[in-house]
Amino acid sequence: MTRVAVVGMGAVGSVVAAGLASTGRMEVTACVRSPLGGLRITRPDGAVEDILIPEILDPAQMSAVEWVVLATKAHQTAGAAPWLERLCNADTRVAVLQNGVEHLERVAPLTNAARVLPVVVEIAAESPQRGHIRLFERPRVVVPEGDDGANFAALCQDSGITVTLTEDFVTAAWAKLCLNAANGAITALTMRRMPVFANPRIARLGHALVEEARQVATASGANLPDDLADQVIARLRTMPAESGSSMLWDRLAGRPLEYDARNGAVVRMGARLGIPTPHNETATALLEAVSEAGDVT
Ligand SMILES: NC(=O)c1ccc[n+]([C@@H]2O[C@H](COP(=O)([O-])OP(=O)(O)OC[C@H]3O[C@@H](n4cnc5c(N)ncnc54)[C@H](OP(=O)(O)O)[C@@H]3O)[C@@H](O)[C@H]2O)c1
Repeated sequence: MTRVAVVGMGAVGSVVAAGLASTGRMEVTACVRSPLGGLRITRPDGAVEDILIPEILDPAQMSAVEWVVLATKAHQTAGAAPWLERLCNADTRVAVLQNGVEHLERVAPLTNAARVLPVVVEIAAESPQRGHIRLFERPRVVVPEGDDGANFAALCQDSGITVTLTEDFVTAAWAKLCLNAANGAITALTMRRMPVFANPRIARLGHALVEEARQVATASGANLPDDLADQVIARLRTMPAESGSSMLWDRLAGRPLEYDARNGAVVRMGARLGIPTPHNETATALLEAVSEAGDVT
């Protein structure tokens, strides 16, 4: 039986672990820092499902598996290194379900030569309490075409997770990052939900954040429309009043923020390509200070 280990049993990792376990085709283990005692997933139609996934708390109790699903926040990757050290060998594949465009740079040095599959996550879910996940729509992910992408799609067959293979993963990953450059930063910094984009100054700031990211994306080989920033801001302005972002939820909970893999990545890659990114630099500095301060609200 295929062995799968999930590191990062939060909103995304739990949905994937539950989906994979439901196929009955594989042995799924949750690699956790403290016990969850089971999962409770509320589906988009309101149905509530209780699922038990075997939990392991100590990396030393694990050996190499066929697949690792890494779904920590990007800034928690280094902390997950002891798990990756035990779970990976050259035959392992590591599916990295994280936001941003630097999956390979971040994770490959930690995987004992296991191949890394970057994944764009289109899973709208939140975890208001450990082990409790609210899923807002059918989970979807995008992976690059190729053997590892095809094998991951086969792994997820009948799991309820839709896997799309794309020949242009660069564009898929940057499209998500361009959106995140505005919505995560602005909702977390203002501590307001999406209606904050109705404010014209905020809409202009969001537009500038996305436009800088789009220019860096284009120079990195992504194929995005010239009016992407207009489209993103128009979309954010029509989102339901209660919607926010995972960075807003993290700020409200006093947790560290995933700013470096988002606005920080735009700044880093812009600097390498000689593209100015002053708005993203400002957002990164402010988010870093907020993230360092933790729970002072
Ligand atoms: N949630 C969404 O709707 C969504 C949508 C698109 C993309 N994404 C992206 O998907 C990724 C995962 O996001 P998420 O929302 O699922 O995050 P999350 O709910 O914060 O979950 C992260 C999980 O990682 C665990 N973790 C952290 N360090 C660990 C370690 N050293 N060992 C074991 N477990 C560890 C945490 O465990 P503890 O409970 O012990 O802290 C937590 O359960 C992020 O890159 C995010 O941006 C999320």
